[in-house]
Amino acid sequence: MASTTPAEWCQAFFVVSTAILFSMQVLPDNARKAFFAYGARRPAHTQHGPNSQASGQKAEAKADSLLVLTSYAQVPHSWFIHFYIVSVSWSIFWGWQYISKGSIMRAMAEMQHRSAVGSHSPEVELSATLVTWLLMSCQGARRLSECLFVSKPGSSPMSAFHWALGVAYYTAVGISVWIQGSGAILKSWVSPQPIHFTPQIIIGAAIFGFAGAQQNNCHRYLASLKKYTLPSEGWFKYLVSPHYTFECLVYVGLAVAAAPRGALFNRSILYILLFVVSNLGATAYGTKKWYAEKFGADKLVGKWAMIPFVF
Ligand SMILES: NC(=O)c1ccc[n+]([C@@H]2O[C@H](COP(=O)([O-])OP(=O)(O)OC[C@H]3O[C@@H](n4cnc5c(N)ncnc54)[C@H](OP(=O)(O)O)[C@@H]3O)[C@@H](O)[C@H]2O)c1
Repeated sequence: MASTTPAEWCQAFFVVSTAILFSMQVLPDNARKAFFAYGARRPAHTQHGPNSQASGQKAEAKADSLLVLTSYAQVPHSWFIHFYIVSVSWSIFWGWQYISKGSIMRAMAEMQHRSAVGSHSPEVELSATLVTWLLMSCQGARRLSECLFVSKPGSSPMSAFHWALGVAYYTAVGISVWIQGSGAILKSWVSPQPIHFTPQIIIGAAIFGFAGAQQNNCHRYLASLKKYTLPSEGWFKYLVSPHYTFECLVYVGLAVAAAPRGALFNRSILYILLFVVSNLGATAYGTKKWYAEKFGADKLVGKWAMIPFVF
């Protein structure tokens, strides 16, 4: 345990969280929904407020005791905004630590660098580390501004468990985007390091930029819908949840931009991607099922849930 590096702690967090998500898939439908369904997909009889008081719904609620139990530990879906406040705060914190040669970043970077030297594993260069940190800051800031100025503040709920997982997730992401560049960070504190943009960084940043712009279009379109309807314009013609597809692509871009010399991807960011694909894959699957029940399965023929030609 003592020799576990900060990168390995973060990777372990993403693997364990992914394993929890997978193990949830074997639970009965209602237990799974109790912990993970949010937005309109969360069964209505678990939602508090005037709409939840219908007697028929009360009877159904008795049958689904776990859903009812977790309904007392639920928060509004609009609390997603906390994730991006956390994300931006960590980006600012780590940026400030870098500029001020802070003791927390130094302690973590030294721990990480010692292990990388011992195991001869390649480290990420300074340019790639700084660009990736900057891109992640942009992602957090864009999502925060979308929550503030684009999304409609709905009243649908999510479980407090999901909220807590999201806050922990963005904390681990904040570390993962720079930790494999620890050696370069420490070196740059001793003597200035050259900054150069390799084709790999440019390709990664281009993927990130394209995915972010498309995701923003999807969010604008969802916010323009008057009520819960079947989204059917733009990328929604082909995919049930294209905003999830582009979220995955955002992390592919980061993993490419932050790759160590001679590698295609950054390993720490691939672990984030593993979690994002599993988490959003499960939600996209639930969304597809929910749309099929509400609007008819025929309306979804030919649409992929999240990954074209695969899922
Ligand atoms: N990195 C990660 O692990 C992670 C995890 C989760 C989400 N995210 C990202 O965060 C973003 C938002 O995710 P999300 O799961 O909250 O998306 P979502 O459930 O699709 O909701 C996004 C917004 O659109 C509204 N909406 C959704 N479907 C609608 C429909 N059919 N008709 C009208 N309005 C609709 C929602 O309203 P309500 O509030 O009323 O439901 C909400 O305001 C996504 O781009 C996703 O990629 C990332």
